[in-house]
Amino acid sequence: MELQNCIETRRSIRNFNSTPVSDEAVKELVNAAKFAPSWKNTQVTRYYAIKSKDIKEKLVNALPEFNHTATATAPVVIVSSVVKNRSGYNRDGGFDSPKGKGWQMYDCGCSNMLFTLKANELGLGTVIMGLYDEEKIGAIINLPETEEIISVIALGYYDEVPAMPPRKDTDVLLKMM
Ligand SMILES: Cc1cc2nc3c(=O)[nH]c(=O)nc-3n(C[C@H](O)[C@H](O)[C@H](O)COP(=O)(O)O)c2cc1C
Repeated sequence: MELQNCIETRRSIRNFNSTPVSDEAVKELVNAAKFAPSWKNTQVTRYYAIKSKDIKEKLVNALPEFNHTATATAPVVIVSSVVKNRSGYNRDGGFDSPKGKGWQMYDCGCSNMLFTLKANELGLGTVIMGLYDEEKIGAIINLPETEEIISVIALGYYDEVPAMPPRKDTDVLLKMM
């Protein structure tokens, strides 16, 4: 798929069909995500791919109701975390930049972007979800203390593509100087 087309046709998918997603496909997505740029190449983003019905059921209840359909119908739910205290930090444990630990969010976003674009190329739908009960999910997936959850991503095949939410004109987003 041509890149511009892949970028423009990626939509947030919130309802999936029951077609299973192979482990190989999930690996392909993470294999694409790992090429994302990151703060000093710290590569802090991690992916937990949950296929177990029991664990998925628990996850649904750790998300707000408007995210239940996406999570419940997705054959795979991804929890994306970062290894803490690395991205944005210097060797002395202080911050290199006034953005502080904001850079770990940035790095995870770059990585998730490649993950979702690669999914679109493979005909898989995704929706990134930013609202969740962090403590509950951490306990469900047994997240190490050294990591922090950033996003939850529902992943699967789908029957319907929603209309594209409108985008601002490029002139609004870009100031040339
Ligand atoms: C950080 C972030 C958090 C989001 N959280 C949610 C969410 O909790 N539930 C949801 O349905 N969509 C969520 N979305 C998806 C956005 O609503 C969606 O990307 C936006 O409406 C544009 O639609 P598109 O992705 O189809 O282009 C989130 C997206 C991002 C990047």
